Amino acid sequence: MGKIRNIEIFDTTLRDGEQSPGATLTIDEKLKIAHQLAKLNIDTMEAGFPFASNDDFKAVKLIAENVEGPYICGLSRAVKGDIQRAWDAVKHSNKPCIHTFVATSDLHLEYKLKKTRDEVLTMAKNAVKFAKSFTDRVEFSAEDASRSDKEYLAKVIEAVIDEGASVVNIPDTVGYGQAEEYGKLIEYLKENVENIDDAIISVHCHNDLGLAVANSLEAVRKGAGQVEGTINGIGERAGNASLEEVIMNLKTRPEYYECDTNINVKEIYATSKMVAGCTGIQVQRNKAVVGENAFAHEAGIHQHGMLSNPLCYEIMNPESIGKQTEMVFGKHSGKHAIESGLKKLNYTFNEKQLNKITQKIKELADKQKTVLEEDIIAIADYELNKATKKPKIVLEELSVLSGNKLTPTAVVRINEDGKEKISSAYGIGVLDAATNAIRKIFGPDVKFKEYELKAITGGSNALADVSLVLQDKDKKEYKARAIDQDIVMASVKAVINGMNKIKNSKSD
Ligand code: KIV
Ligand code: ZN
Repeated sequence: MGKIRNIEIFDTTLRDGEQSPGATLTIDEKLKIAHQLAKLNIDTMEAGFPFASNDDFKAVKLIAENVEGPYICGLSRAVKGDIQRAWDAVKHSNKPCIHTFVATSDLHLEYKLKKTRDEVLTMAKNAVKFAKSFTDRVEFSAEDASRSDKEYLAKVIEAVIDEGASVVNIPDTVGYGQAEEYGKLIEYLKENVENIDDAIISVHCHNDLGLAVANSLEAVRKGAGQVEGTINGIGERAGNASLEEVIMNLKTRPEYYECDTNINVKEIYATSKMVAGCTGIQVQRNKAVVGENAFAHEAGIHQHGMLSNPLCYEIMNPESIGKQTEMVFGKHSGKHAIESGLKKLNYTFNEKQLNKITQKIKELADKQKTVLEEDIIAIADYELNKATKKPKIVLEELSVLSGNKLTPTAVVRINEDGKEKISSAYGIGVLDAATNAIRKIFGPDVKFKEYELKAITGGSNALADVSLVLQDKDKKEYKARAIDQDIVMASVKAVINGMNKIKNSKSD
């Protein structure tokens, strides 16, 4: 094996990842994920796009002030106002980074930017020069690089390195590239950009054709020194390269890639769980590396081979990514055992919250004998979200009636800022009846955009986990979640949580 190269990992879960439809995160959730990403030991964290909104600015600033270890990076278009705003947010970090981008494909130049190649070249140079006046660590991205004219792309990259870009990113923005072709583009830049060794080549692949990880890895083989992506592969449209997959490929096949990363792989599983919990975007069971089935062996022949020697069917072991033997709690579990279990899952709570969680776990254990890790995560996440803002709308009563000779009917009574409101409605089922009753209270301004129901652990008494997205009259989306042993109750609680988020955001 030759000399092992270190590949830097650039995480954009909080920026590109947050652009996943329905994945908006609260500031507290972003900070919590940011701390976990630092524990994972990523090299750079793109914390947001500060110019995009005040909330984004606040989140990037808060992360820059509080999270140590990685470069804290803010995205900006290649214009002064954006770059200044990004700097104002990241300057609070002791390792600040400005990421500036402009598209380089003729398609984007003609239809989006309405600029000539020379104009874009000047924009790129000026942007890097301006960003460099604030900080040494500046990344430049040539958006839609994989569909850009190669010679023009090389010219832009050479010019921005001349201006001092420390990292040059070559995104496959629309996930169009094929592995060999994309690898050749990296090779071409290495051969044709004179000053290429003065910067790190970064790759940023989208997953529209399911090739984001393969394309990133091929680019690494051809000389890229940084890979960008997100935890669980979340992101715009079909998502970004799944960082846990990229990292574990490099880790599992060192003789093939001759590369390694600084990642603390033992934190991969906890990070994946946290991102899924906060965004409400669940990981499919058969997802590589972090899916629930990734290490499960069902077929008898596999089980036999596994018992003789795990290497027969297991190329990574679950402990290496921090997937421990599941914790199981029962009604006799004490508060301290629960607290230490929660600590292992990276949760810390105050005494009052801990008492509440213990009580909920015991109540659940009474009904379903054992409480699994998944249940605990759901209960902890719920408690955490509740602590963020005081609810202004409180559910006082939910009554439903149903049967084969009864039209499903629901009565909902809430208390909003001390005022009681009651409504009843019928529907196709009790869930429909309950949401119709709620709609009557809150009026037509709020729309239900998405609804996802998940049974956390098996059995008809499983804990129901409802995630949904509400849209207010300004088309702003709010993600909400609730858990309960009753599906209808979980759904109504989730709607009330969403309504509280809308109300809280209006009073901020
Ligand atoms: O996909 C893309 O091109 C991007 C850039 C802003 C880096 O996200
Ligand atoms: Zn992207």
